[in-house]
Amino acid sequence: MIETQLSELAAATEARIAAVTTAEELEAIRVEVLGRKGRLAEVSKDMGKLSPEQRGVVGKLLNAAKQTLETALTARKTAFDEAALSARLEREWLDLTAPAAGAGLGSLHPLTQIQAEIEDLFVSLGFTVLDGPEVETEFNNFDALNIPPDHPARDMQDTFWLSNGHLLRTHTSPVQVRGMKKLGPPLRMIAPGRVFRNEEVDASHEHTFYQLEGMMVDKDVSVAHLIYFMKTLLSAIFKRDVTVRLRPGYFPFVEPGFELDIQCLICQGAGCPVCKQSGWVELLPCGLVHPNVLRLGGIDPEEYSGFAFGLGLTRLVMMRYAIDDIRQLQGGDLRFLTQFAF
Ligand code: PHE
Repeated sequence: MIETQLSELAAATEARIAAVTTAEELEAIRVEVLGRKGRLAEVSKDMGKLSPEQRGVVGKLLNAAKQTLETALTARKTAFDEAALSARLEREWLDLTAPAAGAGLGSLHPLTQIQAEIEDLFVSLGFTVLDGPEVETEFNNFDALNIPPDHPARDMQDTFWLSNGHLLRTHTSPVQVRGMKKLGPPLRMIAPGRVFRNEEVDASHEHTFYQLEGMMVDKDVSVAHLIYFMKTLLSAIFKRDVTVRLRPGYFPFVEPGFELDIQCLICQGAGCPVCKQSGWVELLPCGLVHPNVLRLGGIDPEEYSGFAFGLGLTRLVMMRYAIDDIRQLQGGDLRFLTQFAF
């Protein structure tokens, strides 16, 4: 009885072992039949009930079945292991004789390059380069720049407010406030940095862009100084003499305030699509520092005067390289960025 059961079990198991397609299935069969609580273990448990001579016969059969099955299992297992190994070798194959890929050299972002150029220029003109935080107080970003809470000019710049009452600076002008307090008069400073506005993003608007603030405070600083420095700046950037003009422009922190335009470098003033046929490109808001701003910065406006400007670095880069979509600048696309490697 028990003998037939055993040989049937052995035969059936052998057939199953031959049929498995994965190492997992194979292991499941091993546990089921040969495991500590498997079918063969059950049979040997029941052997106690047999007569001594039956026990001898069944014992031999049991051992033979075990051996056959173990041999079959091991053979299949080895086959699976070898297949897995050769698949891995195939995957991890390395051609050690192939030429090395070489280390790709990175490059400076065009904004970084232009910023460094302008910093060098202003340092050579006696200016200090200052850094300010991107998270600012409402006071430094607005009030100290002569923009009180109910002032309509607050709506000119859509602000990202933080839940603690601070904000992401909407311009680099708050560094004027920090600079006046840190350096005291007379002073010459520039402050490049990232600014933020809650704008709908499109080809010409970004929520994050770069400005470079400039400020000079001394005795008898006038519009003539402002024009001189701005012409020097723009000629250095565009590597040629540029023609500029001033138009009135309104910013609460300067009086008088100007929009400085340069004659279009593409058409030399004749009119083209870039300057919208006007011959001029608006580039640089600036003006003489408002007396209230000097006062709030701890400087006596009776004794000192100054000029300030806010250069749009992002706009400048776009002009210089004729980039027509502002989103390229922060897109991180290497096909764009590697064009500026030198
Ligand atoms: N802060 C102004 C802006 O971002 C620019 C500016 C700076 C104007 C300094 C005048 C003087 O719009």
